[in-house]
Amino acid sequence: MTGSRPTKAVVRILAGDPVWPLPIWLMRQAGRYLPEYREVRARAGSFLDLCYTPSLAAEVTLQPIRRFGFDAAIIFSDILVIPHALGQDVGFVENEGPRLKPITSGADLAGLADGLPLQRLAPVFEALERVKGALPADTALLGFCGAPWTVASYMIAGKGTPDQAPARVTAYRDPAFMAALIDRLVEASTAYLTAQVDAGADAVQIFESFGSALPPDLFGPLSLDPIGRIVRRLKAARPAAQVIIFVRGGGANLRQVVEAGFADCIALDWTLDPATVLPGIPASLATQGNLDPLALVAGGEPLDRGIDAILQGVRGRPHIFNLGHGIVPETPIVHVERMIARVRSA
Ligand code: CP3
Repeated sequence: MTGSRPTKAVVRILAGDPVWPLPIWLMRQAGRYLPEYREVRARAGSFLDLCYTPSLAAEVTLQPIRRFGFDAAIIFSDILVIPHALGQDVGFVENEGPRLKPITSGADLAGLADGLPLQRLAPVFEALERVKGALPADTALLGFCGAPWTVASYMIAGKGTPDQAPARVTAYRDPAFMAALIDRLVEASTAYLTAQVDAGADAVQIFESFGSALPPDLFGPLSLDPIGRIVRRLKAARPAAQVIIFVRGGGANLRQVVEAGFADCIALDWTLDPATVLPGIPASLATQGNLDPLALVAGGEPLDRGIDAILQGVRGRPHIFNLGHGIVPETPIVHVERMIARVRSA
């Protein structure tokens, strides 16, 4: 490849250039479905120790690239390192998930760091630099963070909760606190993503995993607007940075994210039919997704059918093949291999 044309297929797609066969990566591609991940994870001790040990975080980031040759590596970390860096107590309980000391008032918020203490996240940036140095030239490197609403819902409830009820009721009862928390997360996330780009990330993904639980009048102020502020400020500071927004659900929320115009790529969850949704998305705007992670668990004909529906639906458009949510630990590796072969031979 000559001239200034980027050689990374994922970067080309994000710029709106259709590439075929589609490049592939998987959300949560470094994880427990891989024996080599489980081995390093056991050696690291805790999940956060793994996130904060640059040599090990870089190693598990590279494992799925070595095994499958994915077109992008996503840095191994978690969306909850931001509350942790701000000073909230954060732990990960084996087989249960994240546990945080809940933050529910202005006084709790005042106890957190003012601005993001970037040095606390230095291991993430060092891991990015290590991965950058080890990746094949045509493999993109992705950074990420959680969207403010998704992160705030964990900070308030202290754990994952059905439909984020504690955070939603807080948004009604104490809108000033909620707005202040969201503002703090906009600040911190902007600084974090900017530093990830400086450490070598070609693009970043913002995970709004819980936006679909918000009622219409709160989606704007708590989800869309804060994400827009992060992206605009990131792009003002680092004009080359490209941004993927993972939105759950379709309908009005998805339409608003598309119309807001700040995303370089919209990551679609598995409930959406590309054939139905894509006509409402400009042809030059990249999309990503959206295979059901459970079709990948099942394999066989349902997997092939799911893959083919996506390939058919996105033909001619800039699209990155991915799942509609994270890969789950029970996923057989042979199914991942079968999926990659099918996408690449299409
Ligand atoms: O995609 C990747 O490979 C990069 C790493 C990554 C992790 N978490 C590693 C992880 C990314 C991008 C995330 C994002 C994340 N974390 C989200 C947004 C995406 C989504 O899934 O909706 C959320 C909501 C979290 C919070 C979180 N972290 C939960 C709910 C859990 C427990 C669930 C589980 O699978 O155990 C985690 C822990 C976590 N983050 C693991 C991994 C690999 C498993 C922990 C382990 O290995 O022991």
